[in-house]
Amino acid sequence: MPRIPHDSRPDSSLALLADPYGYIGRRCVEFGTDLFEARLLLRRTICMTGPNAAALFYDRSRFQRTGAAPEPLRATLFGQGGVQGLDGDAHRHRKAMFMSLVTAAQVDALARRFEDELQTAARQWSRQPQVVLYDALHEPLTQAVCGWAGVPLETSEVSLRTTDLVALFDQAAAPGLGHFRARAARKRSEAWAVALVEALRAGRLSAPPGSPLEAVALHRDENEQWLPPRVAAVELLNVLRPTLAVSVFIVFVAHALHLHPECRLALQQREAGYADCFVQEVRRHYPFFPAVVARVREDFEWRGYPFPAGRRVMLDLYGTNHDSRAWRDPLAFEPARFRERTPTPFEFVPQGGAEPHKHHRCPGEGIAVELMKVAAVFFSTRLNYEVPLQDLLLDMKRLPALPRDRFVIASVRVAA
Ligand code: HEM
Repeated sequence: MPRIPHDSRPDSSLALLADPYGYIGRRCVEFGTDLFEARLLLRRTICMTGPNAAALFYDRSRFQRTGAAPEPLRATLFGQGGVQGLDGDAHRHRKAMFMSLVTAAQVDALARRFEDELQTAARQWSRQPQVVLYDALHEPLTQAVCGWAGVPLETSEVSLRTTDLVALFDQAAAPGLGHFRARAARKRSEAWAVALVEALRAGRLSAPPGSPLEAVALHRDENEQWLPPRVAAVELLNVLRPTLAVSVFIVFVAHALHLHPECRLALQQREAGYADCFVQEVRRHYPFFPAVVARVREDFEWRGYPFPAGRRVMLDLYGTNHDSRAWRDPLAFEPARFRERTPTPFEFVPQGGAEPHKHHRCPGEGIAVELMKVAAVFFSTRLNYEVPLQDLLLDMKRLPALPRDRFVIASVRVAA
């Protein structure tokens, strides 16, 4: 039986943190394999990259999610008891609730709200000499998603809720104080969401039928029981938080429009299907979620390599989106590649792979795509702005990666 190549360092956590998007891919190239083993965050971990590894990773008979996510991420990004850590029937049942929230009509309703909020925000931006786009997108996204989700929000509350929801994804992997800010934000956000769930259940608050707040508060598990309020809160935050995280992709939309003016032109000319190809290429090309983790259920072999029960496994999403076996000229930004060929669900994995109803693939891809399209069309056709001199390089050590100056725009004008 061949031995899985080993990263020789006693612990490779620092190497991973120093290069979170490139670590797995680079080591695989050095070893000439799709996988290797390393000690990461105190545990032996099999790291894998590429479409074949992705197809293996989403085989539910081989891997489980229970207990896979590291504690620092459970305490910030994910919370405890949510759909990410479920397996089998419990996962299927909970996931169906999420999928019921993201029908085409629901996603379109959210996109229209975001378009209105963007319009209003842009009028404020036009009164300022310059605006940091990443920061400026957060409140419009909070307003849009809370309105859509049936979550009441006083004007005085918008800033605090926004800061907390952003901290959950923006500071979860930050060093030192930032991470502790994310832990505090999780405590405050869950207390707020628990109060909403309890008020709705007690009839002190109403939400539109089928809205995310109503759906999570009244969801019955596979034993016909309501979720414990804290778990319902985690699931409500599982809708609100990642919708704010679409701000990262929207900054990349603006970045790509700046570096590739021909894309702006194609959007202005409203070429059929172009907006879709453009945002898909943004999701493929730019870094966001570096990897996903699971645990081996029972001993098995793959290509002769042993996968022992309990071993943590990490699939490289960024590297798979740039794997030259699936993508011609993978480092080039080329929206047209999505016209030429539809990638398989194991080649194109910015939000996970396989099939979202049955697997852990993100249920929010439609939301991400539609909000990005709203922004791409708005920036190209309705918003005039300059991109002043700044550092546009992506900080690839940050999680999530961002342009170093978070994309500053100036002299903003909104077309009538
Ligand atoms: C899962 C990325 C937006 C809700 C995931 C996963 C990734 C991901 C990588 C894990 C896939 C896996 O474990 O196999 C992203 C990115 C987004 C985004 C980069 C862009 C901002 C959204 C939105 C929602 C959402 C808008 C709102 C509904 C979820 C949920 C899960 C998930 C609930 C857990 C699914 C499960 O465990 O079955 N996402 N996501 N995400 N995402 Fe997203």
